[in-house]
Amino acid sequence: MEFSVQTANPAKAETACLVLPVYKDSELLPCVAKLDDASERLIGQLLERGDFDAALGNVQLIPFAPGLGAERLLLVGLGAREKCQEAAFLKALDAAMTALVKLPIDDASVAFTDVVLERDTAWKARKTLEAAERALYRFDQFKSQPAPKATLTALHLIVTDSAEVESAKYGARVGTAIGQGINFTRTLGNLPGNVCTPRYLAEQAETLGRDSKGALSVEILDEEALGAGALLSVGRGSVEPSRLIVMRYQGAEDADEAPHVLVGKGITFDTGGISLKPGEGMDEMKFDMGGAAGVFGTVKAVLEIKPKINAVFIVAAAENMPDGAATKPGDIVKTLKGLTVEVLNTDAEGRLVLCDALTYAERFTPASVIDIATLTGAAIVALGHHATGLLSNDDDLALDVLEAGEGAWDRAWHLPLWDEYQEQLDSNFADLANIGGRPAGTITAACFLSRFADHFPWAHLDIAGTAWHSGKQKGATGRPVGLLTQYLLDRETDAQIETGVK
Ligand code: BES
Ligand code: MN
Ligand code: ZN
Repeated sequence: MEFSVQTANPAKAETACLVLPVYKDSELLPCVAKLDDASERLIGQLLERGDFDAALGNVQLIPFAPGLGAERLLLVGLGAREKCQEAAFLKALDAAMTALVKLPIDDASVAFTDVVLERDTAWKARKTLEAAERALYRFDQFKSQPAPKATLTALHLIVTDSAEVESAKYGARVGTAIGQGINFTRTLGNLPGNVCTPRYLAEQAETLGRDSKGALSVEILDEEALGAGALLSVGRGSVEPSRLIVMRYQGAEDADEAPHVLVGKGITFDTGGISLKPGEGMDEMKFDMGGAAGVFGTVKAVLEIKPKINAVFIVAAAENMPDGAATKPGDIVKTLKGLTVEVLNTDAEGRLVLCDALTYAERFTPASVIDIATLTGAAIVALGHHATGLLSNDDDLALDVLEAGEGAWDRAWHLPLWDEYQEQLDSNFADLANIGGRPAGTITAACFLSRFADHFPWAHLDIAGTAWHSGKQKGATGRPVGLLTQYLLDRETDAQIETGVK
């Protein structure tokens, strides 16, 4: 999506559609009031007569705009002024963009950056472009008759205060990058397991590397090259070979600056293996590479925004299938770190691929490591579908991750990782078991990972409840690309403060 920032009188601006947010039972926003005056009080009258209800998320198209340079108006309800904070703002924005992309227009001017919030112009601009990119998203490559494509290609952001122009431009640039990253994540998630295999993910990495003009170096490690017995044990039952995918981004001025590492769980299909899952809803286990998809989406956003940081992106990819060669309950495998694991349940496979990827991350002497995984059904029980689960061995890092989630409005919630839970992983036959029984399944899964994260500040994001929607809206959400990208952008600010640049 192209964007521009517009400070001239919006009444004169020639555009196919003016998008105007309106509070319920309250005064018009200053810029909307100006447009109202210029159009013989069209908007005020519609509201007074009850012809437009400005309830949150309501939209109404006015196919003409007397006195204005615009060809049409799209009114968008913000709901009650006193309740209009982030959640309401974003809901209204989504409603507006969903309506906008259905119109036969190629550009629109939007006044959302003037809504009063406890967020700056950059944030509002960023969310506007992100919402536009998400609204444009279609996944119809497998439909014989895809729906017609949206025609919208350009958004103009109306900014009343000219001191805010640079802030709006920066926000719009970041929002576009994050929106496109989110959409890439959604596509990888939505692709079926017979297309999106570990080798397919490796090809995606190669393509990102090739298109990056040297900004991203890519290395694919295959079965033979690894001593990663836990990772490899998961793919044993599959005809698809497992892959460890490593992408390095060097953006910091100092090439030796310690990198931030993101590690994604890339189970391209999780049948449960010999501990087979029930059939109902099993198709959704194609989304079990959501952590990997989130990492890929973040790579895409980072390559666009080019922050001055070093980062390493690792994806542990395998397909978990039952077969004569598959790992069985009770099998003991040796991890890359050297610890042995008794695989009591082959459906607890995510932690097996991730533990070896975490050990692999050690070689980069990272400043921080965050893994992202659709790891436990228990995370859905604990947090539902709104918050991502966060566990960490470092309270400062946990706070940074929580803050990034708040900043991007892609929020996580901190769960305890106390030592008391660790003994649930005791095994009679190996160094540790891969499951910890029913209580606190999300925490014991993180406890397992923590055994492989003792050399760096580490955080774990359980996105089992947030990576995709089920039901009629079935599809990948693109979370937590917003959180992860924000986390990395915040590290750039950290580094600048340390070196006295800011
Ligand atoms: N990928 C699943 C977790 C999952 C299940 C995510 C449902 C989203 C929806 C993971 O590999 C798994 O199967 N976990 C088991 C762990 C158990 C065997 C300890 C689970 O959560 O049941
Ligand atoms: Mn599983
Ligand atoms: Zn899984």
